[in-house]
Amino acid sequence: MPKTRLAGIGMYVPKNIIKNDDLKKYMDTSDEWIRANTGIQERRYANRDDETTATMGIEAAKAAIENAGLTPKDIDFIIFATLCPDYYFPGCGVLVQRELGITDIGALDVRNQCSGFIYSLSVGDQFIRSGMYKNVLVIGSEKHSYALDFTTRGRQVTAMFGDGAGAVVLQPTEDASQSILSTHLHSDGSGAEQNVVFNPGSHSNHWAKDVADYDPSDWGEQYVSHNMINKGQIFPTMVGSAVMKKAIVKLPEVVNEALAANGKTLSDLNMLILNQSNLRIAEFVQQKLGLSNDQVYTNIHKYGNTTAASIPIALYEAAAMGKIKKGDLVCVASYGSGITWASALFYW
Ligand SMILES: CC(C)(COP(=O)(O)OP(=O)(O)OC[C@H]1O[C@@H](n2cnc3c(N)ncnc32)[C@H](O)[C@@H]1OP(=O)(O)O)[C@@H](O)C(=O)NCCC(=O)NCCS
Repeated sequence: MPKTRLAGIGMYVPKNIIKNDDLKKYMDTSDEWIRANTGIQERRYANRDDETTATMGIEAAKAAIENAGLTPKDIDFIIFATLCPDYYFPGCGVLVQRELGITDIGALDVRNQCSGFIYSLSVGDQFIRSGMYKNVLVIGSEKHSYALDFTTRGRQVTAMFGDGAGAVVLQPTEDASQSILSTHLHSDGSGAEQNVVFNPGSHSNHWAKDVADYDPSDWGEQYVSHNMINKGQIFPTMVGSAVMKKAIVKLPEVVNEALAANGKTLSDLNMLILNQSNLRIAEFVQQKLGLSNDQVYTNIHKYGNTTAASIPIALYEAAAMGKIKKGDLVCVASYGSGITWASALFYW
């Protein structure tokens, strides 16, 4: 059975830089609070009219395909991870397929938020190992800026997120020393409402009370009502402290799980990249695992949390800066909405 290698990688971030102080125009916040509590200094926001989740994904994909020495027509399957798709449906994968001019291939969207990239990597890995596909394009892309609460009510979440995209191309290899070793996927739906966008949705207050405020006599209001909009019930919410408490337990656990599954130890690890959700989480995990500064790469200070895009963007940068070299053992791990958490161990 073939193994899977990461044959190409690319990234794209919008040019528009938003500093912490720029957010003060909209909400009661400060550079000091955001830096101290998250490590974020700035983030990128997509151009409102012509940069979308899909277009940023397409730019990252083109770079990854070129980096793999391929052309779009070589791609035989697309996996697109995002929590903010261009359309409610269809997904972004088909928009990539259309724009790249690749005829007829399958395109799958993955809805696993911060763990979306690792879940997608795992799905792509299985397709390659089974022999079903030869060149799988995996994209993580997010245009968070279009749907954040730009009032003081939303500051806890809004200050954290930024826009961007990353992509990789997966290919079969017989050479285990340049392949994905394993992926590990977990979820715990008991925390589904800890980090959630409630509306629009079909729940009509079934799972959580009073988060879909509509006139019950008006059937059409269930989807989105003026009350939902006025009360900000259409924006992402997070019970930040609960998410953080579990993240700092589950992230070290899932890194150790990946190493143990392959008979490796922390000292074998050349690089750990976490989804970039909070610098404090990354520092805690680094300390808990006893890793050196050379073994962990973070870039949240520049981009904020780009959710499904954050791991491929960080991987791209770490490799471009020479912090990851060919043959290095790399672990990526994530924790986020769902709740989902995951890891992957591979040779670069
Ligand atoms: C979001 C996070 C940074 C918030 O930090 P926290 O210490 O939990 O802070 P809280 O939300 O309890 O807020 C503490 C105070 O700061 C305030 N605050 C929150 N965001 C603020 C901001 N951007 N600017 C200024 N003050 C802010 C709160 O209103 C609160 O004020 P109060 O005590 O007067 O009520 C942190 O919980 C976190 O990183 N959680 C995990 C995120 C994560 O991994 N998510 C998964 C993937 S998205």
